[in-house]
Amino acid sequence: MKVLGIESSCDETGVAVFEARRGVLAQTLHTQADLHAVYGGVVPELASRDHIRLLPVLIRQTLREAGLDVSDLDAIAYTAGPGLAGALLVGASVAEAMAMAAGIAALPVHHLEGHLLSPLLSDDPPAFPFVALLVSGGHTQLMRVADVGDYELLGETLDDAAGEAFDKTAKILALGYPGGPQLAALAARGKVGRFRLPRPMLHSGDLDFSFSGLKTAVLNVVSSPDWRPEFQAGLAADFQQAVVDVLTAKAMAALERGKMRTLVVAGGVGANRALRAGLDDAAVMLGARVHYPAPELCTDNGVMIAFAAAQRLMRGERPLADPAIRVRPRWPLSELVRPSQG
Ligand code: KG4
Ligand code: ZN
Repeated sequence: MKVLGIESSCDETGVAVFEARRGVLAQTLHTQADLHAVYGGVVPELASRDHIRLLPVLIRQTLREAGLDVSDLDAIAYTAGPGLAGALLVGASVAEAMAMAAGIAALPVHHLEGHLLSPLLSDDPPAFPFVALLVSGGHTQLMRVADVGDYELLGETLDDAAGEAFDKTAKILALGYPGGPQLAALAARGKVGRFRLPRPMLHSGDLDFSFSGLKTAVLNVVSSPDWRPEFQAGLAADFQQAVVDVLTAKAMAALERGKMRTLVVAGGVGANRALRAGLDDAAVMLGARVHYPAPELCTDNGVMIAFAAAQRLMRGERPLADPAIRVRPRWPLSELVRPSQG
């Protein structure tokens, strides 16, 4: 079974072909980071236009590299949400139109399902059930994953997502866009401990998060009369440590409560080294193991969309017969059902 996957939910245009037996046959990815950098954030209209410009090019290139024609495909999968409405519509329209022309199935995929199943692509995949920590620019969630399509929300952020907190704090520190990786690089040069930043909701007794206060705490530090630019790396390190401490504590609490020993980390912030170190250390104490997607699969890409669709199709999911352009900019992951129930 060969599935073409299309990702266009935000500022990355990703295309890939996944084959059930041989794995990833080809993939292409274009990031719009430079396009949005001057505005300090993603401009939805520009994102949509750039997806339109590049998707046909990337699809042609990906199929060529895989040595395939559209008629060789069994299905075309696309991110149907959550994400920017216009950006999602580009991927959905292209996928549905191609599938209709080729007489094959089109399959809408949930972006976060793509993220959280991507560690299954590794040579040593995690076994179900596991706890998933989804940490991206738009989401911070802890889920119980019993199987493909069987997701229970355990806790989530009440305000900013972890990646959003990184990006907003990077903006306060004038690090440019996208700020997360730059803030992490600065933090690596700083020492933890000079600034006492809060650990929001660390002792809230539930598995929810809140990160907006942390960004405000950073703003207060840089606005104080005692602030000196040479403190910058230290402040970045203390900010990062605060995020890591809260994410780690809640992820471990989720494992303990569910009596599980496998944690899967997904989403862009999963690339953060300090987070990985914090989670790995804490997991050892619990006798648990942490699985991460390969670094290139942490950020948005077409591979995870093709892979998630293939998992569903292999478990008996029947794509909808009526072609229609359906996108859901807001789409709770816990609404998904197992493929056989779909
Ligand atoms: O999953 P993703 O690529 O896109 C979605 O939001 O769906 O995640 C992007 C987020 C951004 O907020 C980015 O700043 C953050 O992940 N990020 C990082 C790192 N790499 C990416 N945050 C902290 N440390 C990193 N190394
Ligand atoms: Zn994402």
